[in-house]
Amino acid sequence: MNIVKKLLEKDNYNLQELTTLLKTEGEERRLLYARAAEIKAQHVGRKVYYRGLVEFSNVCGKNCHYCGIRRNNRNLTRYNLGDREILDAVKFAYDNRYASVVLQSGEIESPGFTDRIEKLLMGIKKTSNNELGITISLGEQTDDVYRRWFSAGAHRYLLRIETSSRKLYRKIHPDDGRHDFDRRLECLRSLKDLGYQTGTGIMVGLPFQTIEDIAADIIFMRDFDIDMVGLGPYIEHRDTPLYQYRDQLIPPEERFHLAMKVIALLRIIMKDINIAAATAMQAIDPLGREKALMAGANVIMPNITPGKYRDSYKLYENKPCTDEEAEDCTSCLEARIHMAGDEIGYGEWGDSKHYPRRRGNDEPVSGQR
Ligand code: 5AD
Ligand code: SF4
Ligand code: FES
Repeated sequence: MNIVKKLLEKDNYNLQELTTLLKTEGEERRLLYARAAEIKAQHVGRKVYYRGLVEFSNVCGKNCHYCGIRRNNRNLTRYNLGDREILDAVKFAYDNRYASVVLQSGEIESPGFTDRIEKLLMGIKKTSNNELGITISLGEQTDDVYRRWFSAGAHRYLLRIETSSRKLYRKIHPDDGRHDFDRRLECLRSLKDLGYQTGTGIMVGLPFQTIEDIAADIIFMRDFDIDMVGLGPYIEHRDTPLYQYRDQLIPPEERFHLAMKVIALLRIIMKDINIAAATAMQAIDPLGREKALMAGANVIMPNITPGKYRDSYKLYENKPCTDEEAEDCTSCLEARIHMAGDEIGYGEWGDSKHYPRRRGNDEPVSGQR
């Protein structure tokens, strides 16, 4: 108990200390979450910011070994929302004072796709009198594409590194020249250089992943000086190659707590970043997202994809809210967040406070409401 208590008085850790903290259980683990909650209240406050999530297409050119919508999975209906449907979902977010939206889809690199997104981004700005903040999560693209989307109005980008271990990255992706760790890193760097608020994240509890790997992931995110994090437990999907290793996984409940500990440690070390309470947390624990808020998370991405498509965007099994519509999630989430003791920052962008600071400027980015 003493070692952990002493560690919790510090605000930065080396690999070994992180490993010790990632192994905490029971009362020690509770203290870790409590410390993260305290730092959250001090540094970013107890407001939760919404980003309305539109999963507008499950068509993906990649074949990640863990993901349910990988290219080779024939066991699902592929869909691609029309621009009208996307803009209607965005309008729902705007009308409900969500203040920001996230556009996410499978990864497609093509001139047609680039053009379409560029027009959509401009359309979203127009639909919302320039008021909605826009995050995009559209995978690896060239510098030029990132630049065009930034100019068209996107100002945050999510691109998970998945794991900072080159070796593990290789194991969970096909070796076909299209799943390259270095390219992922280059993309992250380029997003940062272009001026995006840059988010990354990992999956926790992957087969072959060690506690030390996860400790190194935390150090990677710290040293890369990211602005935002989205992370969650790995959840096996039967139509994927990694499913064959399901017997080697740690139990879901442990995976869940490991993800909670990563959130708490990132909050303690990085203090002013934005951390999302990912939906995957709720796939394991019905109160997963609320618990994540109590361990340091401050962003929630309510799903605003039209209900009829949700069943087809299952990256992992047990994904919650697939039978719901946007209205259902709005009222459900509000109750849940209040239960966690937080309030909702309706109508506020809630940008990462870390972004202006790392750029040596304490002023918020333009357009903050
Ligand atoms: N379990 C948990 N998260 C997953 N993702 C993809 N497949 C899974 C899975 N089986 C996550 C990846 C990806 C994000 C869009 O979804 O981290 O970056
Ligand atoms: Fe495509 Fe992303 Fe799934 Fe990989 S994780 S298969 S890039 S949607
Ligand atoms: Fe979607 Fe509760 S958040 S139903």
